Amino acid sequence: MKFFVDTAELDDIKDLAATGLLDGVTTNPSLIAKSGREFVPLIKEICEIVDGPVSAEVAATDYPTMRKEAEILRKIADHVAVKVPLTPDGLKLCKELSDDGTMVNVTLCFSAAQALLAAKAGAAFISPFVGRLDDISHDGLDLIADIVRIYDNYEYFDTEVLVASVRNPLHIVESAKMGAHVATCPPSVIRQLYNHPLTDKGLAAFVKDWEKTGQSIL
Ligand code: E4P
Repeated sequence: MKFFVDTAELDDIKDLAATGLLDGVTTNPSLIAKSGREFVPLIKEICEIVDGPVSAEVAATDYPTMRKEAEILRKIADHVAVKVPLTPDGLKLCKELSDDGTMVNVTLCFSAAQALLAAKAGAAFISPFVGRLDDISHDGLDLIADIVRIYDNYEYFDTEVLVASVRNPLHIVESAKMGAHVATCPPSVIRQLYNHPLTDKGLAAFVKDWEKTGQSIL
């Protein structure tokens, strides 16, 4: 499973890129607003840090304006994935950009039917929002299972399932069990993946016992 980080904070991106475990970055207008940074130069900086797909979302909702915005975004770098909303205009743009060799991430997916449309439009990624479904008492992970199953039925679908709106490590682990290709996670959730109390306890015991030996490997 690939790990993307869902943030527009450069310090977090640099920190996680240094682990060697980061495969890409996703941003959205809310994350850009939170960063306080100017959008296009920020995406350019992110693209210099991370080699994998960097999602940059169009701001408009009508096809002609989204098209113009996408033109600017895809010129930032070859590994920019233009992010479009799951609307008729968004999918029309998705098809056009995908046919032209640009990666497209279709966002705000909340149903299997929508995911089917995105695959038919040639999306590189479909972003089902697990946490936001959980928030309204629908099991977000059920949607991941449905989409993975549907995509598996058609080998000509190349769209990767990018699990979004991830709130905890279980969302990632359960999605991985289902075979989802990517999880995009807040930095804090990626860091939580390392944690286990028995690791801490076991390591403390090993350190203490090693000290008893009086030895040094160096
Ligand atoms: C996906 O690409 C979105 O940026 C993101 O995962 C949304 O998550 P949220 O529901 O925590 O805002």
